Amino acid sequence: MRKLFKVICNWKMNKTISEAIAFCKAVPPLVSPVYLAVPFTCLQPLADLDIPMLQIGAQNLYPQHDGAFTGEVSASMIKETGAEFVILGHSERRQIFSETNEFVNQKVKAALLQDLVPIVCIGETAIEKNQNRTREVLKKQLLESLKDLDTVALKQIHLAYEPIWAIGTGTPSTPQSAQEIHFHLRQLIQEEWGEDVAENMSILYGGSVSDESIEELKKQPDIDGALVGGASLKLETFSKIIALVEGDPK
Ligand code: 13P
Repeated sequence: MRKLFKVICNWKMNKTISEAIAFCKAVPPLVSPVYLAVPFTCLQPLADLDIPMLQIGAQNLYPQHDGAFTGEVSASMIKETGAEFVILGHSERRQIFSETNEFVNQKVKAALLQDLVPIVCIGETAIEKNQNRTREVLKKQLLESLKDLDTVALKQIHLAYEPIWAIGTGTPSTPQSAQEIHFHLRQLIQEEWGEDVAENMSILYGGSVSDESIEELKKQPDIDGALVGGASLKLETFSKIIALVEGDPK
């Protein structure tokens, strides 16, 4: 399950519908699945393009099924657009919109109920890293965000380790230190939920991944994929990253 190196692209709040359609139509043919997380407005238009191997997903959801929640979008609404997955607990949502682990946990459960694959993000700030608190912070985020899930549910989840100090800075974590953290996370998952879950849960790295850094990241045994932000917005770097991964799949 976690053997194929996955590329998940997070467009964040970028691209109108027409820009997104033009981009996807220009993507060279894909030979293995690529996951594209887009603004809500682009979900259905891109899913309708039905581009082989291109899976479309959302970047957030609201955990209630329906009701008086002005401005929010539920998992069932997302599912009906043709989306297949959803990014949850991204650091920008945790920091800008004050999302807690408990709230992320509710969202994970709502996504699973609608058969949307949750991509759950965790990561430490620069201050926490400098205080040597990385492992403590990640453990709390991991256990609280995935609280009360059974092993069937846990095996469907992808975890994304995104150190906040590496996001949007142009300087990713070194492949060695990312590998060290991923190995640690996998051990933690094994201790909590057993070997089967630990072997099945993909752990992706995110934070300034580019066509220059992806090859070294891919070589690391516990890095099962990459969550790519800025470099996925330009067709040239997006295509280079895909070509590098497809040319030498893990
Ligand atoms: P960048 O690749 O732009 O650093 O963004 C990473 C990210 O936040 C992906 O979710």
